[in-house]
Amino acid sequence: MVTELEANRLISALILAGGFGTRLRPLTCTRPKPLFPLGNKPLSEIIIERLANSGVERVIFAINYQAELIMQYFGTGDKWGIDIKYAKEKRPLGTGGPIKNAQHLLNDSPFFVLNGDVISSIDFKDMLNFHIQRKDALGTIALHPVEDPSRYGAVELDHAHRILRFVEKPAPGEEPSNLINAGAYVLDPEVFEHIPENTPFSIEREVFPIFADQMKLYGYKFDDIWLDMGKPADYLQANKYVLDHFLKKTHSSSNKKVFISHSSEIEEPVHINSSIAIGDNVKIARDTHIGPYVCIGDDVTIGQGCRIENSIIFPDVQIDSFSSINECIVGEAATLGRWVKIEGLTIIGDYCTIKDNVTLTSGVTICPWKTVSESIITPTTIM
Ligand code: GDD
Ligand code: MG
Repeated sequence: MVTELEANRLISALILAGGFGTRLRPLTCTRPKPLFPLGNKPLSEIIIERLANSGVERVIFAINYQAELIMQYFGTGDKWGIDIKYAKEKRPLGTGGPIKNAQHLLNDSPFFVLNGDVISSIDFKDMLNFHIQRKDALGTIALHPVEDPSRYGAVELDHAHRILRFVEKPAPGEEPSNLINAGAYVLDPEVFEHIPENTPFSIEREVFPIFADQMKLYGYKFDDIWLDMGKPADYLQANKYVLDHFLKKTHSSSNKKVFISHSSEIEEPVHINSSIAIGDNVKIARDTHIGPYVCIGDDVTIGQGCRIENSIIFPDVQIDSFSSINECIVGEAATLGRWVKIEGLTIIGDYCTIKDNVTLTSGVTICPWKTVSESIITPTTIM
């Protein structure tokens, strides 16, 4: 028997991956958010693997900001057994314009649109079936409950799963409910008739309210994992989710989620806590503590007696002995001296140098290429 899902033609997903990621500066100055590592895998790669496992056969990246880096990494998609295409914008088209811009790459069956900065456990297959079963649906939006809906699009839902109201970024106190737009849609091709060509356009503000008025917009509720990777704290949390839930292999001898490349050299004794990922050619000296929730990129060197917890270390970083890092992000090829202590959502930009004995804390942000010789313990951005 052919299921409704199989009876459809090629299943496609459009990933909105052209945002500037301003709240993750300075890390987004040198790479787009879709390439940010989570458990040592780019955010978009995790999304693509989940889509491929759900039967999606074509992914279209809607890109503009640092488009070439995304194209270089994903190419034609052979590695993931999926056909990858790109719809590049001449200027940012928001969240709706890119859908129109990709029309020629989509066929006349319902397709997914995903915000490219979301990590979730949405069951895409089930969501598509949910949409197809509702014959009059022009769109289905994945919905997730949150405590504060004001940062998101919030909806009012009826018992038949119809969205009666869609309000983008509601003012506090004016949220229709705590169910929010999780940034994943199935859309009917009729949506193209509602979006002008080559014009910045918001799907949330200019299309969803119309579909809701027509009673043709549905909500697909799911619980479990969901996170919009907007700010540094979200990025660290996304890394935790990925280490715990989205990487395949686990260490055979224990329940620990420990992913260590065979090409890494780790000098015993070292203390490893789950969940961690260590990339290729990483060198870690003795008496170092790694974990929980640490991701260390390729070619990183860590000296003796260091302690690294709840942090993301980009490739090519060098950390000298007895330094400690907790709840931080260290950009590519940064150099940290001896007895350096960084914590409290500090972000070290790419190619920075942090001299011996420096302490950085309380959300200090250091822009790329800077050298820091003195401790900073109040929230500051060093430009
Ligand atoms: N191609 C392209 N071009 N993509 C864009 C552009 C653009 O001009 N602008 C933004 N995007 C992408 C971003 O990269 C991101 O993946 C997605 O569109 C959503 O944009 P955000 O800027 O991250 O929006 P948001 O987080 O404030 O709100 C959106 O997401 C929430 C859930 O994560 C809205 O869809 C809310 O309704 C929703 O609740
Ligand atoms: Mg977002």
